[in-house]
Amino acid sequence: MLSRCPAFTRHVLGFLVLVLVTTDVRSGPRYSSRIVDIQTGAIRGIILELNSRHLEPVEVFRGVPYAAPPIGPLRFRAPQAPLPWPGTRLADTFGAVCPQKLPDVSNRTAALQSMPKGRYQYLKKLVPLLVNQSEDCLFLNIYVPGSGECAHRLPSL
Ligand SMILES: *[C@@H]1O[C@H](CO)[C@@H](O)[C@H](O)[C@H]1NC(C)=O
Ligand SMILES: *[C@@H]1O[C@H](CO)[C@@H](O)[C@H](O)[C@H]1NC(C)=O
Repeated sequence: MLSRCPAFTRHVLGFLVLVLVTTDVRSGPRYSSRIVDIQTGAIRGIILELNSRHLEPVEVFRGVPYAAPPIGPLRFRAPQAPLPWPGTRLADTFGAVCPQKLPDVSNRTAALQSMPKGRYQYLKKLVPLLVNQSEDCLFLNIYVPGSGECAHRLPSL
């Protein structure tokens, strides 16, 4: 079919090359080969290699909603069922974290006057993960041993 329409074939090939190059340059996340169906729709996670030869890669599903956004009329109400989504949701980015006030660790000297070094170092690692704060924060991050090729049981959602 394609060979009867060379212009179309060229476009398709051009597009494929563009996709390959773009993917290569961005070197984005490595997506899992499987799609998992949960009550609210389908999700695809990412495969994370860990910085250790003793640990196998993990399949990670980030930012999976487990309740409806508690905003507007749902503010301060009991959680409601999550809203379904069409198609496959890419579970590749963290959802927002709930609003919280963190200790100021921008000035090391000042911070170490009010906390032990261990807590300071822990907070330094944690704070970048807590920058996106929102009341719309009811998300789960799910870590599955292995890289999705074997049939691991998932927690039911
Ligand atoms: C950091 O905090 C220390 C101790 O409070 C203070 O002397 C210093 O001026 C601060 N540094 C900056 C860059 O604000
Ligand atoms: C915060 O949001 C920005 C913009 O959406 C995103 O690029 C970044 O990865 C997020 N950071 C975290 C820790 O989720």
